[in-house]
Amino acid sequence: MNDSCTGLLDVDWAAFDPWRIQALRHRLTDHALLQPAQLVELGKRLENAGQVRTHSGEATAGTPFNHAPRLHPNRRPAAETLQQIHQANAWMSLLNVQCDPLYRTLVDEVLDELKPRLDAVDPGMCYRGGWIFVTSPNAVTPFHFDKEHNFIVQVHGRKTLYVWDHRDLVAASEEARDRFHAHHERDLLVWRDDLRARARVFHLEPGQGVYMPSTSPHMVENGNGASITMSFTYYTAATRRISALHRTRHRLRALGLTLPSVGHYPMLDTLAYALHRGLTVSGNAARRALGRKTCPDDAPYASANIA
Ligand SMILES: [Fe+2]
Repeated sequence: MNDSCTGLLDVDWAAFDPWRIQALRHRLTDHALLQPAQLVELGKRLENAGQVRTHSGEATAGTPFNHAPRLHPNRRPAAETLQQIHQANAWMSLLNVQCDPLYRTLVDEVLDELKPRLDAVDPGMCYRGGWIFVTSPNAVTPFHFDKEHNFIVQVHGRKTLYVWDHRDLVAASEEARDRFHAHHERDLLVWRDDLRARARVFHLEPGQGVYMPSTSPHMVENGNGASITMSFTYYTAATRRISALHRTRHRLRALGLTLPSVGHYPMLDTLAYALHRGLTVSGNAARRALGRKTCPDDAPYASANIA
């Protein structure tokens, strides 16, 4: 698939488009850091750092993603859940694994390999992140989207990944995207079973993966075994600009002004982005004057406590 076929991820770069969903292959299934015993130890460390997200296997495609841990709690500690994942009836995500010095090497190993190719078509990689999903048989990841571009790889077990185009306004309205970029709320993203017919569907086995552009809605159904999956994520100059445009639309909508969809009128987008830049510069200056922290989205790594 790759013209070199020697790296950790095999991506068809001739066909790669940063805004198109694409299948890939990888060589991470035997990686020492992705074996169950290592993940139990990582789970202990990240739980102490408040970087574990979990819910029970009762969550469905239509469960509101942001509220799944509260609606369907998994009360077992991370280590116990991970050790007993086959019968734990749980969904667990080890968040921001780049915060862990050992796992940051894995995130960098993969993203450093991809970066020269990505820079050619989608420059400005920043806000690097790694997310490891360890899930029980038949667990479901509710319908949602994320801000980052995402190379997701299946390490152990089987799952079915449903992905919708990031421009699919039936799967996710422009207003839902505006609100998500402005407040990280996904409450306007509503699951309907008939959306399945509009999705790209990937039946993933170990060694397979998918590239998902920023804000591509997705939903995942595990097979009848436990699963280990990892995502390598990042922002680029383009994802940051589009996010800013959605945040600006959200602000203007609150004033009664609805702009056309992002990307339809480039000149209008340019003006909206200039407005955003002006508001951001003055807002950050005000926050600094009040002694408050600013959270730049062009930091090298996601999560605040990494340089
Ligand atoms: Fe996601």
